[in-house]
Order: sequence, then structure tokens, then C-alpha cells
Amino acid sequence: MNVLVTGGAGYIGSHLLRALESAGHTPIVYDNLTKGHRQSVADAKLIVGDITDGRKLRSAMDENKIELVIHLAALADVADSIEKPDEYFRCNTIGTMTLLEAMRDCGAERMVFSSTAAVYGRPKRTSIEENDPFDPINPYGASKVCTELMLRAYAEAYGLGSVSLRYFNVAGADPTGEIGEDHDPETHLVPLILQVALGTRQKVRIFGDDYDTPDGTCIRDYIHVCDLAQAHIAAVEAIEPARTKVYNLGNGEGFSVKQVIAAARRVTGHDIPAEVAPRRPGDPPRLVASWKRAAAELGWCPKYPQLETIISHAWAWHEAHPTGYAQ
Ligand code: UFG
Repeated sequence: MNVLVTGGAGYIGSHLLRALESAGHTPIVYDNLTKGHRQSVADAKLIVGDITDGRKLRSAMDENKIELVIHLAALADVADSIEKPDEYFRCNTIGTMTLLEAMRDCGAERMVFSSTAAVYGRPKRTSIEENDPFDPINPYGASKVCTELMLRAYAEAYGLGSVSLRYFNVAGADPTGEIGEDHDPETHLVPLILQVALGTRQKVRIFGDDYDTPDGTCIRDYIHVCDLAQAHIAAVEAIEPARTKVYNLGNGEGFSVKQVIAAARRVTGHDIPAEVAPRRPGDPPRLVASWKRAAAELGWCPKYPQLETIISHAWAWHEAHPTGYAQ
């Protein structure tokens, strides 16, 4: 099946393209290339366009006979969203609305949506379940809540079928070493730590060591990007008309910032100097997924659940591509 992948030239998108091709689908990438990389798309068809451009979306869907969209395109930096909420709502919320309208016009009735653990805000319990309430603490999370609510309304009113996948902290790289994580600027913990190991960055800043966690640093649930991509393949099969389904995607185990740095020191054999810095606005202290629902309903199970495996695959990519796709 032809599948339109918005944001398909990004970090998660590039891994998803390979998974779609392995599953016998034909991905058509729709990406404005502001954050994505043309090289990461390899042989897949690439349409350069913005999700706020309804006309271009319609012609992309009509020309490629699209019935299903996997919607990854978004601005996704929590701290940035606090400074520029207008940009986040314009891209993530209005852009998604434009996409949904184009889908209606073109008769595309199925969507897999890239949602986030940020919809939960500061969760009350240690293992977050999908029925836990929305309570985002930053505009990025709020923009994704808006989309999940739109998907519910479109299911009821127009029969749209969707699956929203709430990603926890995505890291790692394809074990072939051909594709990996390359953001500019880089803000994510694992690639930043590995840049320090490579010597292209002097030290890691630990954003806050006074949280109410065992070592005082924030706890996250890290999931391998290939496991995340695989869940989308299962999600494609799970879509039902006029229904919205929601799944957490994580490993169910939390690691603190200090634990991630220690794991990276073991994997890389480098010292990786670190210093404590002030808390970063918008960071919840602890986010750990229950992925029971994805296991039960999608039949999904992470293949690379170990943090050290995730870091070692990321490290192989960073060592071979110290300047990312730019070299
Ligand atoms: N961190 C540091 N130093 C850094 C970078 C990050 O200490 O230089 C810490 C952060 O404070 C956080 C943890 O490392 O506690 C992970 O930070 P990331 O920036 O790698 O990831 P986030 O948890 O902020 O973001 C991820 C996804 C978002 C999603 C969010 C949910 O990238 O899309 O989880 O809160 F919204």
C-alpha cells in the first residue's frame, strides 16, 4: 500500500521508511526539509512540502492514491515550545488540521499519529497508562493533546480511523549504521552525550539534580527507534473505521540522566565530563510507560529493550558520522 509519511525525512521517519518497505508498503515522504535530511530518505519518493500547504498535500495524496497517512511532521522541542508557542500550535495543531482536511477531500480515511508522553504532564503514577489524564505542562504537549482530541472528533463526525502512538524517549539508530539521529540544534540527551564522547562537545549539562528522584536527576523511559518504527507497522493494521486508539510506546523502565551518562561511559569507554546546570523549563521529573496495551492489542514487543544496546547503536552511527548527514 502507498503510505504518505509526513516528516518522513526526520530521525524517526527515516527509520520508519525502512520498516514500511520491509513490510511490503511503499512510503511516499512529505517533508519540508527544515529539520529533515534528503539523504536519510534513500530511494523513497520525496515530496518537499509543508503540512500547512493544503493544496500541495491534496495533490500529493491524489497523485499517489493515498489511503493512509502516518503523520510525524511536527516541531518537537519542549523548551523551544515554551518560548514560541505560536509556532508550535501553528505547525502541530493548525498544520494537522490542514492535513486532516486534505485527507477528507482526498478520501484518505486512516491515520497513524505521532503523539507523545508529554500529553501526560507530571503523571501521578510511576507506570503511566493510556487512560491516565491529559495534563500537559508545555505547549508542545498541549499541541499534541489538541490533535488527539481532533482525531476523536473526526472519528465521530467523519468516520476517520486513527491510532495515536505516544512516544516516550526515542533513541538509538538502525543497527546497519546507515541512518541515525542528526538534529540541528541537538537538544536530546543521548546524542549530546555521544557528541561529548566523540570530542565534538566539551561536556554534558545535567539539567537539575534536585528533583524528587533517587539521584535527583530526571527519569525517562528510552525506546529504540527501530522498535518504535516497528510499532507503526502494527498500528497500520490495527486502524478501524471511525475509531481512535491510543498506545504508549516505551520499555517500561526508567533511567535517570546520571544513569544514562554512566551507561554511555561504559559503552563508549570515554570519560564524558558532566556538570550540573539549572533545571530546564517544562521537564517533568519522571516519565515511564506501561506498554501493556501495545503488547496486548498490537502484539508489539521491543526487540532492543536494553539501554546499553540503544546507546551502542547510536554510538556506532555517531562514530561513523561525526558530523551527521553533513559529511
Ligand atoms: N537533559 C539534560 N541535559 C541535556 C539534555 C537533556 O540533562 O543536555 C535531560 C532533560 O532535562 C530530560 C532528559 O535529559 O530530563 C531527556 O531530555 P531530552 O531532551 O532528550 O528528551 P525530553 O524528555 O525532553 O523529550 C522527549 C521527547 C519529546 C517529548 C518528551 C516528553 O523528545 O518529544 O520526551 O516529555 F515530548
